Amino acid sequence: MAETGSLELERLGRIESEALEALAAVDSTTALEAWKVAHLGRKSSPLASALDSLGTLPKEQRPAFGKRGNEVKRALEAAFDARAEALRQAELERELTAGAFDVTQPGRPVVRGGLHPARRMLREIFAVCAEMGFQVYRSRDVESDEYNFQLLNIPPHHPARDMWSTFYIQGDERAAEGTLVLRTHTSPGQVRAMREMAPNPIRIIVPGMVYRYEQVSARKEIQFHQVEGLAVGRNIRMTDLNGTLVEFTRRIFGAERPYRLRCSHFPFTEPSVEMDIECAVCHGAGCSICGSGWLEILGAGMVHPTVLRNGGYDPNTFSGFAWGMGPERIAMLKYGITDIRDFWANDLRFLEQF
Ligand code: FA5
Repeated sequence: MAETGSLELERLGRIESEALEALAAVDSTTALEAWKVAHLGRKSSPLASALDSLGTLPKEQRPAFGKRGNEVKRALEAAFDARAEALRQAELERELTAGAFDVTQPGRPVVRGGLHPARRMLREIFAVCAEMGFQVYRSRDVESDEYNFQLLNIPPHHPARDMWSTFYIQGDERAAEGTLVLRTHTSPGQVRAMREMAPNPIRIIVPGMVYRYEQVSARKEIQFHQVEGLAVGRNIRMTDLNGTLVEFTRRIFGAERPYRLRCSHFPFTEPSVEMDIECAVCHGAGCSICGSGWLEILGAGMVHPTVLRNGGYDPNTFSGFAWGMGPERIAMLKYGITDIRDFWANDLRFLEQF
């Protein structure tokens, strides 16, 4: 019996040496692939059939045969890899001596990426607001109807909802939060922040994407950023709001750029204003982008007592101001961009200018 065992092991040894001998004669990648099929192939190679016969051997011989069989397999695989690498090197050298490569040629420059203009603008706004003491507070994109509208003093079916054409999210009406919407503005972040921070004073900005079912135009997108500002404390007045907004525009646009504050109306501020900057294209004459010579950059006002109460602050003790600005509009005015649709059109000719 032991003799049969050694005969079987010898058979494996023969398979190995014959394969290696054949490999030494291989001189091309095609021949190498053919060698692989012939000597390592699962179906027809001598090694595969030898290993297949394992089951026919007497039980006590199987472990030694299996072990040796695996050794041969690994040895052939390693020899194959080494041969493949040697052929690759030889090929490279042939190409080099034939002058197919010019190793002295300069490499291709790596293309440098840059920040998207909207992100650049946001960072500029963050920096200016940080200098004035405002911290960044993050709030969610998918909002409940309650936070997006009701807690901001806009009850269901109130006509003021027409100011924000809303994307509603179809969901389970029984969901804990009720109707869900894509936030139409960053103002719901006001109440979320107040509820988290009451009764402490607040000075935050809430940046993020907002969504509206709008008629798209050169100055209106259906998806754009807003940066909400909120200050809550004792003795905060309208003059504080004016001072903050005017200082903000001076730092972003410089002291010479004309701006104006107009009376306005928002259900969550009283009194309310809007701020315009002179159009970068027509310089006040009126054009197809701005219409009037001015482009509105933000809405603002003193936080409505109802909203303060909803946030957990007693309006008899606390007051506050808030604003909501559009960074893409600000970038248009600062860099002379003539169409807001360029921001999300992904055209490199536009993006590479920043
Ligand atoms: C609001 O969204 C209020 N939440 C702002 C506010 C906050 C008022 C806090 C009072 C207190 P309004 O819809 O006007 O307001 O939008 C604010 C700014 O977002 C606009 O001034 C404009 O700069 C920008 N904006 C509005 N609609 C678009 C749009 N479709 N595309 C691009 N920017 C827009």
